[in-house]
Amino acid sequence: MPRDAEAQTPSSIEAPGEKAPAVAIVGATGAVGAELLRCLEKRDFPVRHLRLLASPRSAGRTLRFRDAELPVEALTGTSFAGIDLALFSAGAEISRRYAPLAVEAGAVVVDNSSAFRKDPAVPLVVPEVNAATLARHCGIVANPNCVAAVAVVALAPLHRVRPIRRIVASTYQAASGAGAAAMEELVRSTEAHLRGEPFEPKVLPHSAAFNVFSHNAAVDPESGYNGEELKFMAEVRRLLDVPDLPIGITCIRVPVLRTHAISLSIELEAPLSTEEARSLLAAAPGVRLVDDRAANHFPMPSEASGEDEVLVGRLRTDLADPSGRTLALFVAGDQLLKGAALNAVQIAELLLGQAMPHPSFGHPRDAGRGGSRRHSPSAREVAS
Ligand code: A2P
Repeated sequence: MPRDAEAQTPSSIEAPGEKAPAVAIVGATGAVGAELLRCLEKRDFPVRHLRLLASPRSAGRTLRFRDAELPVEALTGTSFAGIDLALFSAGAEISRRYAPLAVEAGAVVVDNSSAFRKDPAVPLVVPEVNAATLARHCGIVANPNCVAAVAVVALAPLHRVRPIRRIVASTYQAASGAGAAAMEELVRSTEAHLRGEPFEPKVLPHSAAFNVFSHNAAVDPESGYNGEELKFMAEVRRLLDVPDLPIGITCIRVPVLRTHAISLSIELEAPLSTEEARSLLAAAPGVRLVDDRAANHFPMPSEASGEDEVLVGRLRTDLADPSGRTLALFVAGDQLLKGAALNAVQIAELLLGQAMPHPSFGHPRDAGRGGSRRHSPSAREVAS
């Protein structure tokens, strides 16, 4: 992760064109923030001006973007003046408080937190799955929960051909889902374990080294499901547009730094052969098929980390369902990329859309002003 640099540096970078948007990243110093910077840079996202925002603890630090060292500023209510696009990744509380201020200031918000995901007025978007829903945004677009985003990239291509009737899932979730501090804690707990020393975890509820435990989100006393599991159920239903889809899930933390893996058993409307499923997935955007039975080579966090694509494999008919309509598969996707930063930047790319020049940037303030609510043909093309 980028850390402090000494040099005094300019607070903006000059644009590759006047039409490029002014961008703010809220939570720029976090694990997802670092990946947002990398994704914007790697994908050559047009940026006229970049404002890096974090807590007052980080004010004065600098982070590198393209060829510049940019200062990190403390987030305040006035941070969004002149900003067109605000990428939020500093937790739900910060989003609830500051995203409306960003919208009021004229920015479109892509929010990585859970703050607005259940709001029917806020589209919840994975570009490969439901890009068309972006067209009705009112200033805020929600980026899904990391494990839900990774799962639907694999599920949607199958669901389009054979509608899914039921999902049973188990997750193997990395420390990155709990932020940069949890990743550091996994490293330190592993070192302590190898030295034979005791370790007192502060971020995660249990020592993560050489251990597996139920996801740290609070457990709903009535249903027994934890917050992560409830998010997965609600968001997968929304993303696949099947409001009453039956889903059972168990979310587990594993001692992996980044990349979530998911075991999925999906009952389909009618049987789908493994071969058919393989060819659908091989052609699906955002998917890389890793399904080599002879070599026993299937999706792994070590191969998915740092990759844009979600790895999918272990395809087989689930023998627990004698009807033959249930398919089993295993998925691994980088939580920090498709599960967070990459998806947010892909949403921003659709918002930016070639047919829709800045400064309208699809903001509701432009509705009724000569039709400049910019919903690009490109957004519709990607849609299912
Ligand atoms: P900071 O580094 O200054 O604490 P992660 O998910 O990796 O833990 O990152 C969380 C991000 O959210 C960090 O960039 C963190 O900044 C930022 N953040 C946390 N609290 C606040 C706050 N009160 N105001 C603005 N940003 C915050």
